[in-house]
Amino acid sequence: MHIVDIISKKRDGKVLTKEEIDYLIKNYTNGNIPDYQMSAFLMATYFQNMNDEEATFLALAMRDSGDIIDLSKIPGIKVDKHSTGGVGDKVTLILGPLLASLGVKFAKMSGRGLGHTGGTIDKLESIPGYKVELPVQDFIKQVNDIGIAIVGQSGDVAPADKKLYALRDVTATVDIIPLIASSIMSKKLASGADAIVLDVKVGHGAFMKTEEEATKLAELMVEIGRKSGKKMTAILTGMDEPLGHKIGNALEVYEAIETLNGQGPKDLVDVTVEIGAHLLLDSGTESDFETAKIKLQEALQNGTAYQKFLDLVKAQGGDINRLSQPEQLLSKNTVEVLSQKEGYITEINALDIGRAAMRLGAGRETKDDVICLEVGIDLHKKIGDHVKKGHVIATLYTRDKGVKEAEKLVLEAISIGDEHKRLQLIKKTIK
Ligand code: URA
Repeated sequence: MHIVDIISKKRDGKVLTKEEIDYLIKNYTNGNIPDYQMSAFLMATYFQNMNDEEATFLALAMRDSGDIIDLSKIPGIKVDKHSTGGVGDKVTLILGPLLASLGVKFAKMSGRGLGHTGGTIDKLESIPGYKVELPVQDFIKQVNDIGIAIVGQSGDVAPADKKLYALRDVTATVDIIPLIASSIMSKKLASGADAIVLDVKVGHGAFMKTEEEATKLAELMVEIGRKSGKKMTAILTGMDEPLGHKIGNALEVYEAIETLNGQGPKDLVDVTVEIGAHLLLDSGTESDFETAKIKLQEALQNGTAYQKFLDLVKAQGGDINRLSQPEQLLSKNTVEVLSQKEGYITEINALDIGRAAMRLGAGRETKDDVICLEVGIDLHKKIGDHVKKGHVIATLYTRDKGVKEAEKLVLEAISIGDEHKRLQLIKKTIK
């Protein structure tokens, strides 16, 4: 087999075989195929596309390029969730303890943030003492003991995807559905969970800008997972404004604590409960969707979900005393952003808010950047809220970096007009 033949076959719009895709991924991972040939292949794929079967073969080849996490020493059905990336998306911090408080095993390896979206592991690191690295046997023991562990990625999961994603990033070949689907699913299939819910974001703050594109991506990922024996659900949720109010690592932990104590913003609670209800059903814990939702709401209200969060933080070495006053985790330097006019909030551009938080130091431009955990943005208003001129619409938590730029971006991101809009958050479910 020759790489030039594979490139030309794709360039001419033909369908690749499993053997050809396996050859491509194996030889790219071990360095036999150089980046310039893989770049040509990616661009050919960008223009000629891949069918669902090719995308499935690609996902499986990338899954098999590295470690596959073995969770078989944890009895019962293990669950996982994935979000395609949103601003202010702190669902994992709430969902994990919430499900574990209802008896579902949550063994999660999470990532760090890159670009305008944050990563769960960075967020957890804003809790003093929280250890994100655990040996695999300790990770498994903790899930068996308390039902939950959330750690950083250990081992070498889907190294082919790591290499390929970095190349796609610099060759303008990220935004194509079969490559996104196979990239995400290669990592999910290697994560060892039995039931997976995918939260596919749609809107101007997301990869997928339209519901039609998001549906295609979701359907393909569900099919890839199901063919590999996983219980799969995808939901499409809006990313037309950030999720919840708080953006930035410690700020998102703060909002997760509020939510776990029954004081969360409606959009964040709704998405968490929706995903949770699917996982309660898929893990066999509940059989009725509406009953599952009620149980999840109750666990947020009666303190059991928050207690499980404290158990998690304690088990991983975090200082739970600091959580009783989570404002202590935030920067003491704040700047208020004032509304320039009166009216209803009609738009909060999530991408620009994410960029503003990055300017303050909350996110990474490149994977080696050092981030500042205590900075970020607290948006006091959501789309549909009314504001008066001069009212505080956001508070910036700052260090010494990017304040003017962030303030300008926040003001530009928020549109105020006469229309009293309400957004639909949960748009579709794909089973
Ligand atoms: N996230 C991933 O992990 N891969 C993609 O290709 C896009 C988003």
